[in-house]
Formats: sequence, structure tokens, C-alpha cells
Amino acid sequence: MPKITISVIKADIGSIGGHVRPSQKLLEAVENYIKQKGRGLILDYYLNFTGDDVSILSTHRRGVLDSKIHRLCWEALVAGTKAAKSQGLYAAGQDLLKEAFAKNVKGMGPAVAEMEFEERPAEPFLFFQADKTDPGAFNLPLYLGFADPMHCSGLMLSPKIKKGFKFVVMDVNYTQADKIIELNVPEDLYDLAALLRDPERFVIESIFSRASGEQAVAASTTRLRNIAGKYVGKDDPVMLVRVQSDFPATGEILSPFAIAPYVAGFMRGSHTGPLMPVKKNSTISYFDGPPIISGLGFCVKNGKLTEPVDLFDQPFWDEVRKRASIKAKEIRAQGFFGAAMLPYSELEYGGIVETLKALEKKFKIRK
Ligand code: F6R
Ligand code: MG
Ligand code: MG
Repeated sequence: MPKITISVIKADIGSIGGHVRPSQKLLEAVENYIKQKGRGLILDYYLNFTGDDVSILSTHRRGVLDSKIHRLCWEALVAGTKAAKSQGLYAAGQDLLKEAFAKNVKGMGPAVAEMEFEERPAEPFLFFQADKTDPGAFNLPLYLGFADPMHCSGLMLSPKIKKGFKFVVMDVNYTQADKIIELNVPEDLYDLAALLRDPERFVIESIFSRASGEQAVAASTTRLRNIAGKYVGKDDPVMLVRVQSDFPATGEILSPFAIAPYVAGFMRGSHTGPLMPVKKNSTISYFDGPPIISGLGFCVKNGKLTEPVDLFDQPFWDEVRKRASIKAKEIRAQGFFGAAMLPYSELEYGGIVETLKALEKKFKIRK
């Protein structure tokens, strides 16, 4: 059987009422484009939004970084932007940073997560999409889901999973090319932890099974600031995770999300907030947040997708959401102070930088 590729291409191309959610008209424009122009190119697709971001999930046989697939999605996002502008949506076309399409959308603004593999007889996979945070937000859940038996009991119970996983981690501060390191767990566990503790710099790009060599995870690593040289919106990430059998079970991957860990993002991409697991097509609200993550489960056969199952639409997650709200209010209580706001280097707006520059001139060295 030829391999299939699953591609997710995601962008913020405009929202109703602030950075809240895309409009129906925008979504229809994107979908119509994919439906019409994707014929003969893609096998199937699914359109989704989380907060202000629209993602196009497609299946095809063309491999990763394929220029035809990327062009199709880019042009669909351009069509969506046109609809956004026609309705006066806010930040229309925000993440489309380049004018002309080149080879693929890498470095053009949209986030990309893609995986090519041979379909197993049953092929369950998960698709996560986060808003008001950045790619480092996946560091903790992926570390716990793939390397910690406190969450992934398969590391103790399943001989295949016990062989561990290879993590590919990217240094996203290096902008000339992809700078990556490969670490094998369990041997390199502490080295991996040493990198993942700094989610603004080191980001998990992919994970592979050591038993089969098969890819389990593909995550987006885009930092918009590194493309545009200035703040143009947070880099709200997406990821694909293959599950079950040689890979962790769905529930093991979901387990760490019950922590609702504090991540970077929230208002103006400049604060710390809890990552709240939300239902499909959730919107943004309190303090332009909180940071949210949606999760959809699919099976795929010969490239045909099932309908999605909404992974966080289950009573268990109501308590997690409540706790995430409490965590959000707790940290917001201290406003700009200390850990509530991101360090100077991560502030996404230039305002403070300019203020500090102006104040620097007024400082005096006491004799
Ligand atoms: C964060 C985000 C929002 C905006 C905020 C101000 O990723 O999208 O929090 O930063 O709403 O937006 P502007 O500066 O466009 O008015
Ligand atoms: Mg936005
Ligand atoms: Mg967004």
C-alpha cells in the first residue's frame, strides 16, 4: 500500500469581535476553495477552528512539504482572508506574512504539522490545536505522555512501548536553518528535561517509536516573530499524534492535559495562563484567553477520514476547565507582576521596550 500523508496547515486570518473566532463566511470560503480545487489532489479533508485560528487537515499521497498541497491550503487561506476583509473582520490575513507563494508555507506564517506513514490496518490519530499560546506549550504534555510512566502506563506495561521513544527537539531561536537535536528516552531523559524546561527556545518537533521506527508525533514549530522580526500574533500551535498499539493510548496522551499547565500566551501574547482543554470550535474570551487546546480523534483508511470524536467533550474535563478558570484568575490577580507576565525577551509588543529605552536616559549613576 502506498504511504499516506496527513497535513495540517493553520492560520489566523481574521476574527469576529476581536481575536475571538472566525466567521461562518470565512470558514465557508476556505472550505469551498478546498472542495473545488482539492479535487484529484487530496483524498479527504476536515476544516476546524479553535479560537481565532482556522486549520485545514487533509490527507493525500504526496508526502510532506509538497508544494501543490501547500499551495492549495495557502490559496484557500487567501480566499478566507478575502471573505474576512469583505466583512471587516479583525486582523484579516494576519498570519499570511508573505505576498507570493514560493515552495511551501514554511516561513510564510501559517503553522504546519505533517506526517507521512504507511497506514496500519486500524489507524487512530489525534489532532490538537491550541490558541493564545505558542509551540512550547506541547513540551510538557508530550514529555509526560511519551516518557513518564506516571501518565503513560504503557512504558511499564507494554513491551513495545517500553523500548521508549526518540524525541526530535528544535532550537527555535536559531533562524538560519532548522537546528535540531535527537534524544532517546529513557537514556537521555534528564537531558530532554533540561531542554524542555525552556519552552520558548526548545520545542518538540517530532517523536518516533524506538520499537518500530514509526513516527508518532508531528508538531508545528513556527515562531512568527522569527519570520516577521516583530510581533504579528502568537504562534498558536497544532500537532498530530498517532496513538494505540506501538504508541501511547489516547487516554495516556490526554492524561497530562488534566494538569492545565501554565503556558506563555494569553493577552497580547505576553502573559502566563493555564492551558484549558476545550471542546471543538471553542472561542476566546477572558483576558483574550485563557490559552486553550482542542483535541479531535480520527481514524483513517486509504486516506478517508472518519468523523471526528471530540476528546475534551466529556464530563471529566468540566472539572479541569473549572480548575483552569481558577488558575487563570489566581495568576491574573497579580496583573503585570513577576511570573504573571512573560520576561522582557518574550514580550510580544514593543511598548515596554520603548518605555525602558526612554527611562534608561533618565537614570543617573550616584557618585
Ligand atoms: C494574542 C492576541 C490578542 C491581541 C490583543 C490586542 O495572541 O491575539 O490578545 O494581542 O487583542 O490586539 P491588537 O494589538 O491587534 O489590538
Ligand atoms: Mg489572533
Ligand atoms: Mg490565534
